[in-house]
Amino acid sequence: MAISYLNGSWQSIEEARVPVLDRGFMFGDGIYEVIPVYAGRVFTLARHLHRLNNSLAEIKLINPMTQDAWSHLIEEAVGRSGETNAFVYIQVTRGVASGRDHVYPRVTPTVLVMVYAAPILERAVIRPYSLVTLEDFRWSRGHIKTVSLIAAGMLKNEAISQGADDAVLMRDGLAMEATASNIFIVKDGIIITPPKSHHLLHGITRDVVVELARTHHLALEERDISAAELAAADEILITSSGHEVWPVGTLDGNTIGNGAPGLMWKTLDGLFQGFKRLQQQQQQQQQ
Ligand SMILES: Cc1ncc(COP(=O)(O)O)c(C=O)c1O
Repeated sequence: MAISYLNGSWQSIEEARVPVLDRGFMFGDGIYEVIPVYAGRVFTLARHLHRLNNSLAEIKLINPMTQDAWSHLIEEAVGRSGETNAFVYIQVTRGVASGRDHVYPRVTPTVLVMVYAAPILERAVIRPYSLVTLEDFRWSRGHIKTVSLIAAGMLKNEAISQGADDAVLMRDGLAMEATASNIFIVKDGIIITPPKSHHLLHGITRDVVVELARTHHLALEERDISAAELAAADEILITSSGHEVWPVGTLDGNTIGNGAPGLMWKTLDGLFQGFKRLQQQQQQQQQ
């Protein structure tokens, strides 16, 4: 059952309310996290809490809770929901101001935690995505996981209106990421992903995949990917907490590889599934 915690009280998601002067509603002045839950266990929690802390610091908002308090709250939310494969969604906004003013008010931040079922995590169907390239017109603080997602929404919907699943966002002729995923290409057996910068989100799944590739001695480069390289890739993959490692079948209407999930996707997906199992075992042993 989907559940929400809002500023100390529990209710269904539909019942949760924030005042109109909440800075999140007025200005998109807040940050968020989405954390996967597998078999009732929260995955890579420490990494997500670390990024939450970084996003808060970037927007000069003091973290309203300690890491321990976050952990307990999230565990309680998952327990109350009774969900097995789910997402934990956390949102912290600057809080409710007394009027509409750009200047930051000194008020208590709004804290929302929601838990809801995530059928995508069951991975029943893995259909390679079709992507189109679009100009990345988002802002230049892409490493902050802000709730101000209007540009990402516009780009995603533009991709869909072109008959695609998603877009690869191009900035100065280089691939940055997709609208809600990081991007990897494979060329001649080398895995390549754009370096971390202020133009893309430092994805947790991206980090895990990079670490797994390195641990298993796969050739991996963190470097710029040009439009020409992207188009000539043997494989393209996207990564996110929802999609894990997901194959891409076409780019701008052209088939990538043979259009089916490629060998490197299979390798990386296998490593990722192994990593998930290991985490589960470790969490079980800690209980
Ligand atoms: C713009 C963007 N890039 C990348 C990602 C992937 O990040 P993660 O792997 O932490 O889910 C997301 C996730 O929402 C995103 O919104």
